[in-house]
Amino acid sequence: MFPTILAIESSCDETSASVIQQGKVLNNVIASQNVHQKYGGVVPELASRAHQQNIYLVVNEAMQQAGITSAALNAIAFTRGPGLMGSLLVGVSFAKGMALSLGLPLIEVNHMEAHVLAHFIDDPKPTFPFLCLTVSGGHTQIVLVEDFLKMSVIGETRDDAVGEAFDKTAKMLGLPYPGGPLIDQYAKQGNYKAFSFGDTSVPGLDFSFSGIKTGVLYFLRDQKKIDENFVEKNLNDICASVQYQLVKMLMAKLKQATLQTGIKQVAIAGGVAANSGLRNTLSDVAQKEKWVVHIPKFEYCTDNAAMIAMAAHYKFLANQFCALDVAPIANMAIGNIK
Ligand code: KG4
Ligand code: ZN
Repeated sequence: MFPTILAIESSCDETSASVIQQGKVLNNVIASQNVHQKYGGVVPELASRAHQQNIYLVVNEAMQQAGITSAALNAIAFTRGPGLMGSLLVGVSFAKGMALSLGLPLIEVNHMEAHVLAHFIDDPKPTFPFLCLTVSGGHTQIVLVEDFLKMSVIGETRDDAVGEAFDKTAKMLGLPYPGGPLIDQYAKQGNYKAFSFGDTSVPGLDFSFSGIKTGVLYFLRDQKKIDENFVEKNLNDICASVQYQLVKMLMAKLKQATLQTGIKQVAIAGGVAANSGLRNTLSDVAQKEKWVVHIPKFEYCTDNAAMIAMAAHYKFLANQFCALDVAPIANMAIGNIK
């Protein structure tokens, strides 16, 4: 049976719903929360309140766009984790309420696995096995993907996520949250060789980004002592130089992972996969190294329910449902859902 599933995503600051029918994503409705911009980061309490306000409207819109009523649904899927507890609770509770009232089975989805499975929404799709560099505001991982529901983390950050490094740098430069896309934008007009920030890599396939954040902090502090308008005068070059170093560190580990595993099929996923520097560098390296590369559409890089729907589709086919007493898991790891 090829199911029709409604999927809900609410792990961080995006409320999203999507309907998937026979493995085809029909829509991807997203309500973003601008309320966090002035705080320099997501405020958990405000995020859960905004989810609570948006969720009914977003789900309703997805159902209307799909042109179906709840009678056509075979299951309700939701993000169980990882994410902010208050945000997750809104999606989980809404999904449970729908499943209970409609008498439908529930499917729990791991948000990070869903980022990887976003590659199966459109053609060309990867074949197994492949490596996926999953880079977001909360995670930086190299995932070995052996099948739709069989994946493991072979390298990850020991401290900050790379998205956090982008966002914290942006905050130090006086840019609003989330700063990653703005750094990307300014970097396009800048010279990446203007300033150099040290490589803070650790041995093996793990990452470390907290050092570069401190490096930027001290660099700006020292430069501002000489010229208080340093940031304004050099914004493009600072952004280009920081982005260059972050992308370089990501690419070095990805290359190491391909050598270690012998796998030359490489994908990127997560919000930072929208970064043009990373996308361009990956395409260049892929040509040199003869990798087959998969880069998702922008709308499937940042948080969205289409990827939750795609993961739910494979879980439905594998008969993986969960009970109504399911609760969110804020720090859910890949491979945690069976
Ligand atoms: O996957 P995502 O939407 O949410 C999490 O699960 O964290 O990723 C959000 C992260 C933020 O840190 C944001 O600044 C970053 O992705 N991001 C970018 C770009 N677009 C989004 N970072 C750098 N360049 C971009 N173009
Ligand atoms: Zn995400």
